[in-house]
Parts: sequence; structure tokens; C-alpha cells
Amino acid sequence: MDSKLRYPLGARRLRQSQAVRELAREVRVSQEQLIQGCFVVDGIKSREAVPGLTGVYRETPSTLLRQVEIDLKKGVSKILLFGVPSEKKKSGFNPSFTARQIAALKKNFGKDLFVAVDVCLCSYTTHGHCGILSPEGDHVENGKTVSELARVAAAYAEAGADCVAPSDMMDSRVAAIRETLDARGLERTLLMSYSAKFHSKFYGPFRLAADSAPKGAVTLKDRATYQIDPARPQDALECSLRDAAEGADILMVKPGLPYLDVLRDLSREIPKPWAVYETSGEYAGVEVLAEKGLINGPLAHVEMWTSFVRAGASMIITYGARSAREWLRAAAGQF
Ligand code: PBG
Ligand code: ZN
Repeated sequence: MDSKLRYPLGARRLRQSQAVRELAREVRVSQEQLIQGCFVVDGIKSREAVPGLTGVYRETPSTLLRQVEIDLKKGVSKILLFGVPSEKKKSGFNPSFTARQIAALKKNFGKDLFVAVDVCLCSYTTHGHCGILSPEGDHVENGKTVSELARVAAAYAEAGADCVAPSDMMDSRVAAIRETLDARGLERTLLMSYSAKFHSKFYGPFRLAADSAPKGAVTLKDRATYQIDPARPQDALECSLRDAAEGADILMVKPGLPYLDVLRDLSREIPKPWAVYETSGEYAGVEVLAEKGLINGPLAHVEMWTSFVRAGASMIITYGARSAREWLRAAAGQF
């Protein structure tokens, strides 16, 4: 009897042991490609857990430093910082709270810590939109918003941020920010653009943490007039091409799992480092299933990260970077 004829492929030979599975893997995830999302909040007395985001807190300025010190020991050396000021306004925003936290991080940890900072206005505005509203309150004004964003980004870069990351989705903000940085001698500051950011339901827990949900008596109830429609991959491609042309160093797809096709297509099309964001809703989804005992959370996160790398991401923004050493160890050989 000729078993080769019955099983010509023999695919299971390459799955039979951890050793051969490790050797046959086409992609790998490592902690060095992960960026930890962090919140720092003005005016709170002690740090507060974020619902759904296990292990993530709305930090005070001092607990942030303590947490980062612990993270560094666990191998986390890159963060994406979200600063939440207590003063909310309609325009004329003051970036100094967040800038002070950046300066403190760089003073304490210097080059050991790569600090990327989210640049947006939704944590600064009374209404929670990502920019300055028109007098009628029916749309976000592009030009006025972009000048504020450039000013805020420059303040973060001057405070020592290694990378500024605009997440607002206004047109031409990448060019404006790059120009402002260069004019101030900050030509070494990296710019990571949330270039393919979709109008998604997977940002829920984040908006609680960052105090940034659209709210109050404004006609504009959601971010559909500035974030990309989920059914418009062409829009994601056009915006990413534009942001690359305007000087973005790193491009991004966000959220990750529901937009894996976009990540795959765009990363093949545009030769730039690609980031992907495992958003708060994606992260919390896994955590909630795990809490109910329905899945193994750590292995599910690692599986998701693997899909991101497979689809073309070179870096992953996740709330679980600080758990990655443990989770990756737990996952070794388990797929
Ligand atoms: C701010 C911003 C958001 C996220 C990153 N920056 C929320 C939003 O656009 O409403 C989402 C992050 C997450 O869900 O983890 N513009
Ligand atoms: Zn925003």
C-alpha cells in the first residue's frame, strides 16, 4: 500500500511537535514590536481602573511614572500616551498638562523609553469632538482644527516626545504638523499618522478612559463626518497615500481585526512601516470572553497579534504590551 498516494500532502507532519511548528512558522510576534497604550489624567487623586481594559488605568502624573518603571522591567520600552486635561474648552486649547507628563517621562527614563503621543482635541473639548465646531455646531472646521493640532503637536515634541501621532482625521494635518515641527527645529521627531482610522464602534472603553465621547447639546452626534466609513477601503487607501506624501513616517490601520483586509492591502501597496491598533473595544472583547471563562484571553490576544503581523503590520499598539512577556510565553507552541 502506498501511503503517499493516499496522503500526498502530509500536512500533519509539519504540525506534529512544538519543535517543527516553531521551525515552520512564517511570522512571529515579539514584545519589541508592541506599543503600550497609557492614559494620564489631570485632577484625579488616585489612579482609576478602566472598565474592560484589564491592567490599564487612568493614571495620575505620579502613578504613570511608577507604572512605566514597572513596565520597563517587564520589557515594555514603547508607549503611546493619551493626556486628559481637566480644563475643557471650545478653542484655544492648552497642551501644557500633557507636555509636562512627556517631559517628566523623558527626564526619568530618557532614551530607555520611546514616547509616542496621541495628538487630538477630543479630550480637550467641551463637546468631545476631535476639533473646533462651526458656530452652528453642525460640523468640525478643518482649517481651524488643523492649526490647533499643529500647535499642540509642536508643544508635545518640544517637551521631548519621540513621536507625535495625530488621530483626529482632519484633512492636511500631517503636512501642517510636519511643517510646524521642522520650522521649530524638531525635524527628528517622528510622525505616525492614524491614516486609515475608521468610524468604528470598537472605541467604547477608550472614550470613557479619555473622557472623549461626543456629548452635550450639539447637532453632531458622532464622528462619521471625519472618520472613514467602514465600507470605504478606497478612502483608507487615498488617505494613507496622501499622509505618506505629506511626510508621515509611519502609517496606521485602526481598528485591527475588523479591518485586516485593509491592513493587508495597504501594507502591500504603500512601502512604509505599518502600525495597527488593537483598539479598546477589540481588547475588551477578548477580556470579557475570558472573564466569562469562554476563551483563554492571553492566547486569544497573541492569536490576534499574529494575525496583524501576518497581514503586514510591523508594530502593534495594544493595551496588553505590559502582559506580553507572560502571554507570549503561555502561547509558545500552542497554535
Ligand atoms: C482620539 C482617539 C481615539 C482612539 C485613539 N485616539 C478615539 C476616537 O477616535 O473616538 C481609540 C483608541 C481605542 O479605542 O483604543 N481621537
Ligand atoms: Zn479625537
